[in-house]
Amino acid sequence: MSIDERAVLDHLVLDFRQMTAFAADPWVFVRGEGVRLQDQEGRWYLDGLSGVFVTGLGYGNERIIQAANEQLRALHFAPPLHGTSPPAIELTARLREIAPAGMRGEHGVAVKLLSGGSEATETALKMARQYHKQSGHPRKYKLIGRYGGYHGGTMGALAASGGWERRSVFEPLVAGVLHTHPPACQRCPFDKTYDHGACGITCARLVERTIEAEDPETVAAVIMEPMSISSAGFVVPPPEYFAILRAACDKHNVLLIFDEIITGFGRLGMWFGADYYGVAPDLLACGKGMSGGYVPLAGVLIADRVWQAFLGDPDSRREFHHGHTFAGNPVACAAGLATLAEYEERDLIAHAVQLGGHLHARLEGLAETYPFVRDVRGAGLLQGFDLATDTWPEAATPPGKRFEALARERGIIARCGNDFVGFAPPLVMETAELDELCDIAGACLEAMAP
Ligand SMILES: Cc1ncc(COP(=O)(O)O)c(C=O)c1O
Repeated sequence: MSIDERAVLDHLVLDFRQMTAFAADPWVFVRGEGVRLQDQEGRWYLDGLSGVFVTGLGYGNERIIQAANEQLRALHFAPPLHGTSPPAIELTARLREIAPAGMRGEHGVAVKLLSGGSEATETALKMARQYHKQSGHPRKYKLIGRYGGYHGGTMGALAASGGWERRSVFEPLVAGVLHTHPPACQRCPFDKTYDHGACGITCARLVERTIEAEDPETVAAVIMEPMSISSAGFVVPPPEYFAILRAACDKHNVLLIFDEIITGFGRLGMWFGADYYGVAPDLLACGKGMSGGYVPLAGVLIADRVWQAFLGDPDSRREFHHGHTFAGNPVACAAGLATLAEYEERDLIAHAVQLGGHLHARLEGLAETYPFVRDVRGAGLLQGFDLATDTWPEAATPPGKRFEALARERGIIARCGNDFVGFAPPLVMETAELDELCDIAGACLEAMAP
């Protein structure tokens, strides 16, 4: 590279990152092949996180590259205020086929195509408010999220997110957003034990109590991730959680929004987390795995009954008052179509179930060897564990951060919180590659053992 890279690096703004520290120890990726990434020092890394829950098809997928290239040559941009393009129509049709059955209603789901996860959740939140305005409940505007949840970086999505670490410097955020405690059995906020539901599933009941306490006639929507990752690691709700939430939302005419930016497109071993739990939301935001990261692509699936409220005469002003220039971009849609075809034709979602079971078993094995590995949990290809912090009472660096540094040294990529390590490997990973990933994770734990 002819430019003075060091002079640029602390002026290149990465997400959630102190750039002076990054510039002192940069990490620049130059190439990807299969499930591996290479940095500019020439070192290869096994991708245990699919980039960031994105590259489910790995790197260098020729079919997607070709589909995007062909579309670039045919038409790279269609005037969005005037019309659409064949790939956008085809992708919408395909998404309507794979949408959770309970969302389809009489006419099937509607689809709003977008470019990123935050756009998708933001769009879903705005749609919920407009829906009530024009379906006889104009006072419904409040949105309920949960503490620790993450829905994106834009103001509305961030307002619905529940981690103060990312919110506080931007407050006050959008008005009318409330939070309840997460369904995190491993660290139950109510100090209860699940025990086959003996806890009363307080986490779910509390959402209904919140709706009632706020006056249901003012509550528009509840937004939740089917399985989320927060600073406390993967939050795996008890099996009853979403059915209780669905019933509460139905009772009070509140829309249920699933943020499936991470869980969509096979990660839990079904097309969507909604299928995994057998509970259909009214709006489903998706992104990340939708294009496998080859192009920016996201969307919102809209249940039939919600969409009907947006149809009418052109002068009725019932159309959705929302848009983005790159929404439904033809190149993104062509790549998205090829991505969905790959998931389906290579039977990768079934592979994710098998691979996820193997990953879980391997992590359980690590927990048996290293007693400081606790609470192995997850579903499908979203699996992780806690690190018992009291194992290293004198340590200045949190154990998750030590693991992260060791992982980089030894050539794997994982998601590390202060006391949590999570994996979300590409759906195309082979069992031998997964074993290599777990062996290296084991070597990192061995190096940390007191
Ligand atoms: C659950 C969830 N929702 C929304 C987002 C925001 O997506 P994006 O970063 O593509 O805007 C993320 C990003 O990590 C996410 O994990």
